[in-house]
Amino acid sequence: MHKITDNAINLFIDKLDKSGVGVSSIQKEEIYLIPYTLPGETVKAEIINEFKSKVYCSSLQILENSSERSKNTCEHFTKCGGCLLQHWKYKNYKQWKFNLIKQPLLKLTPDIKILDMISAENYSRRRAKFFLKQGNNSCKLGFKKYKSETLININNCIIIDTEIMRFLTELKNALNTNYLTDEVIVFHVNKLDYGLDILIQTNKSLKINELINIFKNFKSKIISIYYQQNNQNPELILFYNKNKLSFGKDNVYGLIPPAGFFQATKLAENELIKNILNEIQNKKEHVLDLYSGSGTFTLPLLKKGHKVYSIDNNNNSIQSLLKSSREQNLFNNFNYNISNLTKEKIEIHFFQNFDIVILDPPRAGAIIQVTSLGKSKVKKIIYISCNIQTFLRDSQILLSYGYKIKYILPIDQFLYTSHLEIFSVFEIFN
Ligand SMILES: C[S@@+](CC[C@H](N)C(=O)[O-])C[C@H]1O[C@@H](n2cnc3c(N)ncnc32)[C@H](O)[C@@H]1O
Repeated sequence: MHKITDNAINLFIDKLDKSGVGVSSIQKEEIYLIPYTLPGETVKAEIINEFKSKVYCSSLQILENSSERSKNTCEHFTKCGGCLLQHWKYKNYKQWKFNLIKQPLLKLTPDIKILDMISAENYSRRRAKFFLKQGNNSCKLGFKKYKSETLININNCIIIDTEIMRFLTELKNALNTNYLTDEVIVFHVNKLDYGLDILIQTNKSLKINELINIFKNFKSKIISIYYQQNNQNPELILFYNKNKLSFGKDNVYGLIPPAGFFQATKLAENELIKNILNEIQNKKEHVLDLYSGSGTFTLPLLKKGHKVYSIDNNNNSIQSLLKSSREQNLFNNFNYNISNLTKEKIEIHFFQNFDIVILDPPRAGAIIQVTSLGKSKVKKIIYISCNIQTFLRDSQILLSYGYKIKYILPIDQFLYTSHLEIFSVFEIFN
């Protein structure tokens, strides 16, 4: 618990905001935001910062506990900024998260079919980005504090896969005796089929031989290590095995570039692929996969015999998609384009070449595409989103062009946060 200062104030928490932070509206003109609190609690808080009508606080002491408060939190909770909601009994947290999408969707389209939310388990996150800061006889390795640049040592994260955690522990032990630099080093770790694919990013240069010597004797299952300085091309410095990631049940795989995107959990990846293949069964149907990445959806569709056109702005992802489609003899039905979908608006007549459009944009959504997509009247749109607000905004546009939502499947692959994966199917009947 924090030290109680003279500036401490007592606040009653009315509700949580959309990001999962406690809100107190004791004064009409201002709202107080206090993380790690629950509705109905009274807390002693300290003001950290004020911006416009928002007063950002930290909780010093819980004066009156909610009966929904859980003691089952990890040792880093409230220090590490990764999780905001471990302190809520799981069933209450789950209900709140489901309502984040259910309530606004019901307002948008009252007859909507929303399937039960599927939830990932602890220790299931396959991608992690963590930071290292070495100093005089000190070494911090882990994640950042909530809304801060302060690094928190992580010994046992309940979110990330245990193989990634084992690597983190091994790295920490090695760096206690091997000094690299005093600048912050970023590690991206992806867990793929054969083990861990690692990208190390720095601004100043590191001695590559020293790096290799550190990792050579690790017991963790490392498949490759890349080193990248100042956003130059990543350099492969250690290689043991291929960057293969199997998708779905049809014996098809992608090749994930260093720090490349793939779904955060296997559960979500499997559910998304399963639902897509279920919605696209006729092999004659021509599919456009927007924001395709390295082919999580494109490759299983090609394997099933569909013709797919994929677009992404990440050259490395598209190159890896090309390579994996060639390796597996899936290249004949495949077309692609590298294009910035935030800036380059796809024309209506281009959309009309397709029977089905898949959209899986980053958190900003796909606002410039959904208007012409809505006008195109493509018969089915599969929209996958990781941001409730931009999903609702873009859905409203599609609904305004006459589309109906067939169903929504919420997948909680970002545990103890407000982030939610949403699978949705839009149809239009002319
Ligand atoms: C949520 S990921 C989905 C990737 C893929 N569908 C998958 O499931 O693995 C979003 C993708 O959008 C791409 N992306 C981000 N900004 C983009 C932009 N402005 N134009 C095109 N693609 C973009 C990223 O490279 C990334 O591959």
